[in-house]
Amino acid sequence: MKSIYFILLNLFISQCILSSQVQTFDFFYFVQQWQPALCDKKAACCYPTTGKPALDFGIHGLWPVNNNHTFPSFCNENSPFDENQILDLMSDMQKDWPTLACPKNNGKKFWAHEWNKHGTCSLSMLDMHSYFQVTLALKEKVNLLQVLKNAGIRPDGRSYGMKAIKEAIKNGIGHDVVIECSNDVFGNNQLFQVYICVDKTGSDLIECPMILKRKCDENIVFGDFGSDTEGSSISL
Ligand SMILES: *[C@@H]1O[C@H](CO)[C@@H](O)[C@H](O)[C@H]1NC(C)=O
Repeated sequence: MKSIYFILLNLFISQCILSSQVQTFDFFYFVQQWQPALCDKKAACCYPTTGKPALDFGIHGLWPVNNNHTFPSFCNENSPFDENQILDLMSDMQKDWPTLACPKNNGKKFWAHEWNKHGTCSLSMLDMHSYFQVTLALKEKVNLLQVLKNAGIRPDGRSYGMKAIKEAIKNGIGHDVVIECSNDVFGNNQLFQVYICVDKTGSDLIECPMILKRKCDENIVFGDFGSDTEGSSISL
């Protein structure tokens, strides 16, 4: 009899330890980056070894957020990135989640970073395979480039009003988004990242619970890849 209590007690204690290790969070930011903007900053870009990415937004990541606007990070060292768990997703990852970091590589370093820093903080909702799968599904669901094109906003290197860009996206996806800008090599403010709020399951778009402050000018450039932008900004 005593040993049963002992086992139950141990079970209770280990459950407490386990649950205290699982990070909670309130919603996600689904962050996409405009690929050419990565090649048009002071830092150089390198096309992935798997090929030049399409002229499109690429996934940056799916980031768990708390309602008090803190971002939990690196939550579980015991669950490191393991490509063997997502082999079936590899070709979609290469297409929709490319890396433009130098030196040129196949993207696994980027995905491992996103998993280790952000993904491990949403283990209470999504295991590794689900985390990458729902993120790819969000990219399919939200075609930002098409939504912008529908409003006559094209990546032609011209300037567009921030108001028009935000309105076009709101009309297309039904929710306000946060836009982040960067400066191109000429010092022009340009479209860089778009943050979309997503519920904890990673499947439904929601209104953002709070305003994330990111700075952009009133008019911003929507750029194309240059004729040969890869690595070119090193010399500028
Ligand atoms: C924010 O919320 C999280 C989760 O509830 C909590 O762990 C953290 O301590 C809070 N941080 C601040 C600065 O309030």
